[in-house]
Amino acid sequence: MSFKVAIKGRDEKVTVEMGETILAAALRAGVPYPCGCRSGNCGACKSTLIAGEIEMSPYSDYALSKPEREQGLILACRAVPWSDCEVAWLEPDDVAMHPTRHLDCEVTGIEDATHDIRIVRMVIRAGGPFDFSAGQYASVIFAPDRAGHLPPRDFSMANRPGGETLEFHIRLMAGGAVTPYVAHSLKPGERVRVVGPYGNAFYRPRHTGPILAIAGGSGLAPIKSTVEEALARGAEQPIRLYFGVRAERDLYLEDHFEALAAGHPNLKFVPVLSEPDAPTQRRTGFLSEAIGKDFQDLDGFKAYLAGPPIMVETCTRVLKHLGLARQNCHADAFYTEADKAKLETAK
Ligand code: FES
Repeated sequence: MSFKVAIKGRDEKVTVEMGETILAAALRAGVPYPCGCRSGNCGACKSTLIAGEIEMSPYSDYALSKPEREQGLILACRAVPWSDCEVAWLEPDDVAMHPTRHLDCEVTGIEDATHDIRIVRMVIRAGGPFDFSAGQYASVIFAPDRAGHLPPRDFSMANRPGGETLEFHIRLMAGGAVTPYVAHSLKPGERVRVVGPYGNAFYRPRHTGPILAIAGGSGLAPIKSTVEEALARGAEQPIRLYFGVRAERDLYLEDHFEALAAGHPNLKFVPVLSEPDAPTQRRTGFLSEAIGKDFQDLDGFKAYLAGPPIMVETCTRVLKHLGLARQNCHADAFYTEADKAKLETAK
């Protein structure tokens, strides 16, 4: 049994199989439904339920508050239809319209960026062209030819859109099923399957006001893509890039961003250490504190955030408190498989 879900303003209806979520069915059909975590954590797939019945799996209050649910909003990644439905995207004109591609890639370079982050570069061998918006991510399968290949994992593109090569920043997660392979076994020449693009925290080039880019750890990847894309398009407004890490050994690409800032006076790069392990001249503390000190009013800004959920959530609260409009806050929190599993066990 299946149901039809109409999306306001779009001609085609999505067929949703029994027990499937609206988002999963839409992405399977190649519809660029706004989304981020796909696990009820981020709120990027928030939509209005215009008609029909759905059942929601567990989700976080951050993604969808009780008052929002009472107003008829749903999370498409947690909404399983029980009848034909009609939904509306919150920002229908603000969706990245790129076809979903299934790419065959080959690893061309692996670099140790820090003690636990590797920069992996690959070239697209087949399945392109790969159009995406800066800040989006893809589902990546390493060792696809191996018997019992590794499960897919989401990683953000760190390069600007438009080329034949892709760059991913991959942090080793202890006990993970995929990142230990990348950290210890991945070799140049290996095949990688990449499916995407996904994600709604992408660069909006029409915005001409100041830009606040906030990255935590390997969240630097989509923020790098966003900042580089803005500069390459000739953005002249102030761009403030805050990069939060624990200690000195976690900083990477500092020379790259210092050089970029030297060539673009509108870019300012601010590393912040939350737990320095030695006396330092650098900014210290949490990113949310640094931003709270440096800004009084964010009206007219656009903010792009990527990194660990706790960083994204605390910074988002500070940004709202400083007057940033909701539609100007584009956040991509990196939920681990363990984070996603927590909601499942909360049933
Ligand atoms: S809450 Fe649905 S994509 Fe993140």
